[in-house]
Amino acid sequence: MENNFLWWRDGVIYQIYPRSFSDSNNDGFGDLLGIISKLEYLSELGVDAIWLSPIYPSPDKDFGYDIADYFDIDPRFGTMADFDLLLHEAHKRNIHIVLDLVLNHISDQSTWFQASKSSRDNPYRDWFIWRENPKGKQYPPNNWHSNFWGSAWKYDKTTEQYYYYMFLKEEPDLNWRNPDVYKKMMDVFKFWLNRGVDGFRLDVFNEYFKDDQFRDNPPKLGIRPFEWQKHIFDVNRPEMMGALKDIRAILDSYPERYAVGETFLATTSEEAAKYIGPDKLHDAFDFTFLECPWNSKCFSSIITRWNSLLSRNDGWPNYVLNNHDQPRSATRYGKREEDERMKVAAAMLLTLRGTPFLYYGEEIGMRDIKLKRNEILDPVGKHYWPFFVSRDGCRSPMQWDSSENAGFSKRKPWLKVHPNYLQRNVKNQKEDPNSLLNFYKNLLTIRKTTPALQKGSFVPVTSNSRRLLAYIRQDVSQTVLVVLNFSHHKARLAMGSQLRGKDWQLLLSNKRSLVPEIKNNWLPLVGDEASLYIYKNKK
Ligand code: GLC
Repeated sequence: MENNFLWWRDGVIYQIYPRSFSDSNNDGFGDLLGIISKLEYLSELGVDAIWLSPIYPSPDKDFGYDIADYFDIDPRFGTMADFDLLLHEAHKRNIHIVLDLVLNHISDQSTWFQASKSSRDNPYRDWFIWRENPKGKQYPPNNWHSNFWGSAWKYDKTTEQYYYYMFLKEEPDLNWRNPDVYKKMMDVFKFWLNRGVDGFRLDVFNEYFKDDQFRDNPPKLGIRPFEWQKHIFDVNRPEMMGALKDIRAILDSYPERYAVGETFLATTSEEAAKYIGPDKLHDAFDFTFLECPWNSKCFSSIITRWNSLLSRNDGWPNYVLNNHDQPRSATRYGKREEDERMKVAAAMLLTLRGTPFLYYGEEIGMRDIKLKRNEILDPVGKHYWPFFVSRDGCRSPMQWDSSENAGFSKRKPWLKVHPNYLQRNVKNQKEDPNSLLNFYKNLLTIRKTTPALQKGSFVPVTSNSRRLLAYIRQDVSQTVLVVLNFSHHKARLAMGSQLRGKDWQLLLSNKRSLVPEIKNNWLPLVGDEASLYIYKNKK
């Protein structure tokens, strides 16, 4: 490994949805000791960091994203001592810990909100956004809409005012303009950094500030009511930049700490990129990547755009194909139980210039579970049934082996296991050299031992092909050619002048074990092929 290896830039980050990963006390609910018991697995897989979806106390109206106390651990996940042990055990294996911080809103059951709603003159009143409409109590203060559904304002009979919420009414937004709230938020960062946490994923951070005059959002055309307005006054307010500067200063006062932002409603790469930089966040997600159909042209244009945008502000890209809010990539792209296409996706994700984010189970090609109406738990899924596929689908228990409940727990899990677990599980895939898991593992090893794949430059070879995506990753000592066939049909890559006449060696492939014969400067590919070739520059 290079001496200047920086974990969040050169490494790979693995997202864990803790309640679904591993259950140590067999109550059907994953926990911290369960995660500790799987650190060896993660270390063998080769990840450099784990991002934990929220582990704080929560009434679970939004499955942990409605936090009741930022300074504690939910007893269902374990204790603070368990958390310290996790930090210790992970660090021992060079695995960093990234926590999910949901600082835009808090649970309505938190002591802060309970105090705030108790009376208009409670000292916590201004910790939340309380307003009224001079026209009368039947009118909400303005036209702002909740992202989930309905008006973003909830009337409170006791104190006869409305409070603001962007997601569920049980998740009131904090008032970041209040200096005590602001200071408390900075304390949250310091509290976890002092415990030894390495980084944070900031939930909907670009929503912390709302317009100070509460102006109505202008109308626009859209499908769901939330999309019927341009969100210019409730999201992406300029005050955000000052807050990012303060957050970054705190992070930078500790060695090698990191923050990645969930760019809520940043529907373009440009919007996401503006939050990345030396006095802003280390990284922000560009979700347009995750929304691509299985089409190399779409990925290729996003990669080019993302690279060029970030090169302007010294930013470092990241790529993600899965998270806890979207149907899994194997469900979106995979054909039935077949995994060759998922190997192409994995090869792309792990060889691009940027930090790859994996989501638990992606490495074994887990598919979304299908739920009947009365099995849905996600509030968004319940509300929009049958028009929206609930987010529960991608949150099912990790499939470890073919024993009962996929080896996740000895008791009925909080959410059902995918029925394919009898075949699709870690144990089976470990034993099969051609499995998706082993392909991921090989990719991670190669990435770790091939400096060009970490910091090397990125040069596209194809740009306008629907079928092929090919690019070069290069540093002073080596050049890696990545060739991906997005179709089931054979294809060929024209070896342009920069590729010709080199002594290519095969680094990894899901379809071949030798470099193929290159006839008339055409490199042949079979359907669903992902191959990596390398040549070492002569000194
Ligand atoms: C983020 C989370 C999502 C949650 C929402 C409200 O988008 O990823 O799971 O429901 O914020 O906190």
